[in-house]
Amino acid sequence: MSEETGDFAGRVVLVTGGGSGIGRAIAEAFLAEGARVAVCGRREEPLHALVEPHGERALALRCDVSAPGEPAAAVAATLARFGALDVLVNNAGTFALGPLEETDDETLTRIFAVNVLGLLAACRAATPHLAARQGAIVNVGSVVSQQVIGGSVAYAGSKAAVDQITRCLAAELGPRGVRVNCVAPGNTETPMAEPLLADPQARAATEARTALGRIGQPADIAPAVLYLARDPWVTGQVLQSSGGLIL
Ligand SMILES: NC(=O)c1ccc[n+]([C@@H]2O[C@H](COP(=O)([O-])OP(=O)(O)OC[C@H]3O[C@@H](n4cnc5c(N)ncnc54)[C@H](OP(=O)(O)O)[C@@H]3O)[C@@H](O)[C@H]2O)c1
Repeated sequence: MSEETGDFAGRVVLVTGGGSGIGRAIAEAFLAEGARVAVCGRREEPLHALVEPHGERALALRCDVSAPGEPAAAVAATLARFGALDVLVNNAGTFALGPLEETDDETLTRIFAVNVLGLLAACRAATPHLAARQGAIVNVGSVVSQQVIGGSVAYAGSKAAVDQITRCLAAELGPRGVRVNCVAPGNTETPMAEPLLADPQARAATEARTALGRIGQPADIAPAVLYLARDPWVTGQVLQSSGGLIL
């Protein structure tokens, strides 16, 4: 596929947390389908490494989605460069494991500020521009919103909020022609999941629980995101992309 012939030729996509892991694979998949893509995150080097081969078609934006005003600034910079916004992918996320009693205020605040408040702020800033193009939001949730996994109360709570935000916002923005969906990955081999997958026994247990018998790779998640960005009649849905981790 190319800039002229891909499914997303002429479309503009903003991927938060696009410098690594799942976000990077999502950005690369949109670029492969002809989109113009802005990626944002706090560290500039991985963002620049991603956009560099794509010239004018890709844009790196430094942005902390948990900082007031920064998601809106990333949306504005995308508009300034590309003139429109068709798809917002809220992928930036942060993670911590541990019982609630051992989770300090700083960790609780970080998890909800990034995974929930940053996502809401990005959606709010993008809304008028997505409405102008009959565009779409794809949130990145997690299977932990649908299954109780020990020690994940704060993270799982934040991802359950993402599921319900997806449904509520789909209802709110549907009349304006904007679709809102969520992809819920299972365990995926990224820097975030490294501590979970480093233990060979835990890794083998996850593989055994997964219908397709292996740990997901970032590129496994991207097709579900592109599908939900593309489909004109699906909205308010949470789509598990996990190789059948929860059946
Ligand atoms: N890996 C899994 O097993 C798994 C499973 C289910 C769901 N997920 C979800 O998938 C998404 C991507 O995670 P990943 O696994 O690909 O992990 P990752 O490689 O650590 O990616 C997370 C990305 O989010 C960015 N980010 C973190 N805090 C940010 C902030 N305050 N502002 C802007 N960007 C921020 C990071 O960039 P900077 O550090 O440069 O800001 C990084 O690029 C997350 O929402 C995660 O919850 C992952």
